[in-house]
Amino acid sequence: MKATKNLKVHAALIILVTLLMPAGLLAASEGNSPDQMALREIMQQLGRDMQEITDSISKEDWDSVAEIAPRIADHAQPPLGEKMRILAWLGNNAGTFRSLDKEVHNTAMEMREAATQADGQDVIAAFAELQQACLACHQDFRKSFRDRFYE
Ligand code: HEC
Repeated sequence: MKATKNLKVHAALIILVTLLMPAGLLAASEGNSPDQMALREIMQQLGRDMQEITDSISKEDWDSVAEIAPRIADHAQPPLGEKMRILAWLGNNAGTFRSLDKEVHNTAMEMREAATQADGQDVIAAFAELQQACLACHQDFRKSFRDRFYE
């Protein structure tokens, strides 16, 4: 009887600790496992943020655009170890990779600026540029990234 009770308490504690664990920590530990790079989770978050922006643009909810844009501009970074692996893999292409990420930062901040002025045209223009930066990096690097880190 006592053993069962202890087991239950133990299980409850594990669940509690898992629930209380900050999301960032969980993401970081996932990133360190061999089958999942942290970059993927970061990308998935970018995808969700872009979807939210599209939704907010349709509603002309500029406050919401202004709030989400900096999350895209200053998205999370992979943990140091993964960064080193990615940089080593990029080699001479690291400059291109970085400048496309910088482009994401700059255009997302332009979009935020336009949103704070409720300038729908400029928000959409910046959004288009932002998506071009996403696309450019995917066309240049996505396939080779997967070949290198997942296959
Ligand atoms: C500097 C390069 C770079 C930029 C800029 C970039 N990505 Fe990515 N993205 C990647 C790479 C590399 C992958 C492949 C990762 C993988 O398969 O694990 C990827 C994959 C993705 C995926 C697929 C994730 C999955 O589960 O397969 C999504 C969604 C995504 N990116 C969204 C975005 C969005 C939205 C932007 C722009 C706001 C963006 N990315 C900008 C490099 C980039």
